[in-house]
Amino acid sequence: VGADPKARARRSSSASDGGDGVPLMIFFGSETGTAEEYSKNLALEAPRHGFKPHVVDLEHFVPEMLTGELEDCDDETKARVAPMVAESGPLAVFLMATCGEGDVTNNARNFVTWITGDDGEKPTTSKLRYTVFGLGNTGYEHYNEAAKITQAALEGAGASIVVKMGLGDDDGDLESDFADWQKTIWAPLRRAVAAELGLEEGTDDAEEDGPACALPVKSVAPFKVVEVPPPAGVTAADTERDDLVGGRADEAHAASGGIAAASPAGGGWLDSEPMRCLTRRQLMAMGRGADPVRVRWFQAVPARVSARREVRGKTSLGGSTAHVELDVGAAGLTYGTADDAAVLPENPAEAVDAMCAHLGLDAAQWFTLEGDAIAPAIARAEAARGAGGAIEDPAHATLKPGERPPPFPVPCTVGRALQRYCDLGGLPSKALAGQMAHWAEKEDERARLARLVSTEGRSEWDEFVRTPRRSVLELFQAFPSVRPPLAELLHVLPPLKPREYTIASSPLAHPGSMHLAVSVLNEPKPPAPGSADAPGRRLAGVCSTFLAGGTSGATPAPEGAVVRVYVRKSTFKMPESTETPIVMVGPGTGLAPMRAFCQERQARAAAGEALGEALLFFGCRREEEDYIYRDELEAWAASGVISHLHLAFSRQGAEKVYVQHRLREQGAKVWALLSEQGAHVYVCGATAMGKDVTAALAGIAADHGGMSAAEATAYVAKLEKDHRLVQELWS
Ligand code: 2AM
Repeated sequence: VGADPKARARRSSSASDGGDGVPLMIFFGSETGTAEEYSKNLALEAPRHGFKPHVVDLEHFVPEMLTGELEDCDDETKARVAPMVAESGPLAVFLMATCGEGDVTNNARNFVTWITGDDGEKPTTSKLRYTVFGLGNTGYEHYNEAAKITQAALEGAGASIVVKMGLGDDDGDLESDFADWQKTIWAPLRRAVAAELGLEEGTDDAEEDGPACALPVKSVAPFKVVEVPPPAGVTAADTERDDLVGGRADEAHAASGGIAAASPAGGGWLDSEPMRCLTRRQLMAMGRGADPVRVRWFQAVPARVSARREVRGKTSLGGSTAHVELDVGAAGLTYGTADDAAVLPENPAEAVDAMCAHLGLDAAQWFTLEGDAIAPAIARAEAARGAGGAIEDPAHATLKPGERPPPFPVPCTVGRALQRYCDLGGLPSKALAGQMAHWAEKEDERARLARLVSTEGRSEWDEFVRTPRRSVLELFQAFPSVRPPLAELLHVLPPLKPREYTIASSPLAHPGSMHLAVSVLNEPKPPAPGSADAPGRRLAGVCSTFLAGGTSGATPAPEGAVVRVYVRKSTFKMPESTETPIVMVGPGTGLAPMRAFCQERQARAAAGEALGEALLFFGCRREEEDYIYRDELEAWAASGVISHLHLAFSRQGAEKVYVQHRLREQGAKVWALLSEQGAHVYVCGATAMGKDVTAALAGIAADHGGMSAAEATAYVAKLEKDHRLVQELWS
């Protein structure tokens, strides 16, 4: 069938330069950007196997992509989808992340509703050939649920799977799981489109996975760096000042009747001078089309740090929990009690300086980014700013098809780009190390990096990078001949991701202010082979260091400094009536949303509402050490905002006492509230604790409700389904 060796030759020669190949759709369901990053890596590899990749955010999926039925659809869809579908029918890879306790990512919701037939009609996708890889974590209750649901639904819709589903575990080594799985997919995918590739049917297409393929394909930046003078009105001193963003510019602009004042959303996050005068709406329009991490750089607003204090008692255990208050009122940011705040962290100046020194970069240099697909978007945004009256038309800043937003707001200084947009302190990915290898000038460094990222080098990678917690910066320092040009550096460095905190305050009690309970991570790193400063290396959380400092000498954002933040709706909602009893379980910083609830109850009681019972279970190591917000909790217990406060100190007695033990002790009471008064249960904290608390609740239902083990488990599952048991957990 179509066995034309020349056809194959044509395909692969032109495919290698990315121009041709059999269409392969790569869909991603991504929350934090990992699945998206993997889909891009897969797309890089695809051409050398004869495929032309089309990476699709599941948010933008349309059914025709999977059905391949293009006859009845409109011209626009046809024009968009036709190039994505192979002659023999659609061929697709799904990279599905699972988030929370087993949820599908936000961007994949519509797709999953459609493919499972949850909206009524069961779809048919019998022409589709596909495979699935799941990004999950065995620490969570429903491991890789999103991938499993997707696979089952596609099978139910009649699609044929061509490669066994792969499941990756973030509790182990997700990236290696993915790399291992990726190696298995190309030969079967090629066989699925054998005719189009000109392969003999039934031949075992020996893959071209020779030594030449040991390194991932080099990824070239879709932009170049162009040095520019500092924007008008920006002085050298300004460049270093935090209030270049936000507040001041907004206020000045509002006072002059400018754009920021005209926007209902208030000013935006206004990073660099030309971007200052865009409305938040326009910035978001520009950011649209950026990946999930980058889009947030365009939607966060500036908030000042208005207060900060330590909330632990003694800190001799070495730990620290900082209470941080952010003034969000000025930026017009509102939130609901116990919503989540996402903070855009910044790297410590030391790390930025070290990176600049290592690569010989001038931190103060201003630059912009230019690329075929980027420049028009920037130019239009700037034109919109200059256009005065026309600026309310958001189309000015909206991307046209094929354009992408700049990866971060420009113009910008080199130092700021590294400080705000690139992850320097995190664990490097093998994908990054693979890209670094392409830039190594010394052959031995190139070979070493190639070895580290190979399947055979898995244990060496663990030893050299994972175990000693070597950071991105430290990896560069270990390979001094790796000196990519600035554009390529900005392209390959991982983006600095937002960090989420459950808000520890209620807007009823603190309008315009947002409180965070920040557990500060700062501990010695294990020694790293060949690292010069081995004894002094510390593992410091980028966001907690940024917000609260640490003992590493890194300076936190000072009080009054600007922190960029945005709000995400959380699953924690208080019952409508304050009379509905609540059971709160929040050990450690899991106390944050419970504090918000208590504030809300206090405010509503003061306004005359009656309070039902509220049980709070809090746990920590020692009463004198990490019993955070002690005074507040005790005051609420005394005034009735909390009707029963139960404490579990895990390292005080001969045996560990945890919140779930206290919960079991209160079984009769908890059961009465659940079964007779429709109580709601809220659990926040570490995943392991959440699992144990769920088990404890089932135990209570069995003991006090006379249920069998199976009935008790079903009872707890029902509570969760009815949103009367809500958990927000992290690993
Ligand atoms: P530990 O560190 O002594 O083990 C807040 O971090 C509190 O949660 C600490 O007291 C910690 O105890 C405790 N903790 C750790 N694992 C837990 C689990 N599986 N269930 C409940 N609490 C736990």
